[in-house]
Amino acid sequence: MRRPKITVVGAGNVGATTAHWCASLELGDIYLLDIPAAGDMPKGKALDLKQSSPIMGFDSNIVGTADYADTADSDVIVVTAGIPRKPGMSRDDLLATNAKIISSVAENIKATSPNAIVIVVSNPLDAMVQQMKKVTGFPASRVVGQAGVLDTARYRTFIAMELGCSVEDVSALLMGGHGDTMVPMPSCTSVGGIPISRLMEKEKLDPIVDRARNGGAEIVGLLGDSSAYYAPAAACAQMVEAIVKDKKRVIPCAAYCDTEYGVGGYYVGVPVILGDGGVEKVIEIDLEEQEALDFQKSVDAVKKLVADMEGVLVGS
Ligand code: NAI
Ligand code: 2OP
Repeated sequence: MRRPKITVVGAGNVGATTAHWCASLELGDIYLLDIPAAGDMPKGKALDLKQSSPIMGFDSNIVGTADYADTADSDVIVVTAGIPRKPGMSRDDLLATNAKIISSVAENIKATSPNAIVIVVSNPLDAMVQQMKKVTGFPASRVVGQAGVLDTARYRTFIAMELGCSVEDVSALLMGGHGDTMVPMPSCTSVGGIPISRLMEKEKLDPIVDRARNGGAEIVGLLGDSSAYYAPAAACAQMVEAIVKDKKRVIPCAAYCDTEYGVGGYYVGVPVILGDGGVEKVIEIDLEEQEALDFQKSVDAVKKLVADMEGVLVGS
């Protein structure tokens, strides 16, 4: 039986760690691709990772390369290519550089893996995933962005820390863009089935929401010279697993919304069913009044980001 072919574009912190999680979960054979200027680095990381397999006990094959021909006919492609945020930079500062990188990666994917499901990670996420869909011309179901799994994991972690309970029992949802306008959904947050409002006052929850919203910047501040990668890569692996095992997970992803939530043709974080068809359904729920206002604000920020990106690309 052919194993799923999983390509990770960008063999830096998030890419190599995604390869690591995917290999150790035996999700398929992994191709780790970077630019020729990176030299033998992807080959070195792939070989190093492969040499961990007899110890850790997994059978995935792992190949490092700079040649898209090696990645041909991938089933799933995780795109982490680009520059990360440095201290003092916002995700939007990355816009100009990463929009060009994503365009070139998208051309290569379209030429070599026309049937792949693409998970975009590069920032600013909501604009990069829009650009990936535009350049590949793939259907919306096959181009998705990773942000909500990570943001929700941060929120769940902080709630568990506050309550002194297991993270496994915290279930939550965040919607909107991957940025300062992300929308926490207290109405969709529960612990062991108990609504969060019955466990925690709003005054306790609000700082947790703010910490989740600034979760990326908090890690940048601590690391100093890179942004987060363990949790982002774990989030990618969960999405890859949902696809290759057709798990039909209900998770928040940056998905293309047209009539959904009245967004009008943009990528924004919403709950979806993720399976071997990619985004098989955007789940629409009635938002409470404040949630709806916050969501609209977030959608407006995403629209501005996409307009800024298009301006940058036209001007270049
Ligand atoms: P990194 O600098 O460690 O790795 C990026 C890699 O991309 C480098 O190895 C670089 O050589 C490679 N690259 C550059 N241009 C390329 C191209 N055209 N084709 C293939 N590879 C190319 O950065 P890191 O920390 O891995 O972050 C990667 C991206 O992911 C950044 O934009 C970062 O902001 C974003 N990110 C997004 C998250 C999310 O939740 N959506 C979470 C964490 C990071
Ligand atoms: C994060 O949230 C940098 O977007 C990245 O950690």
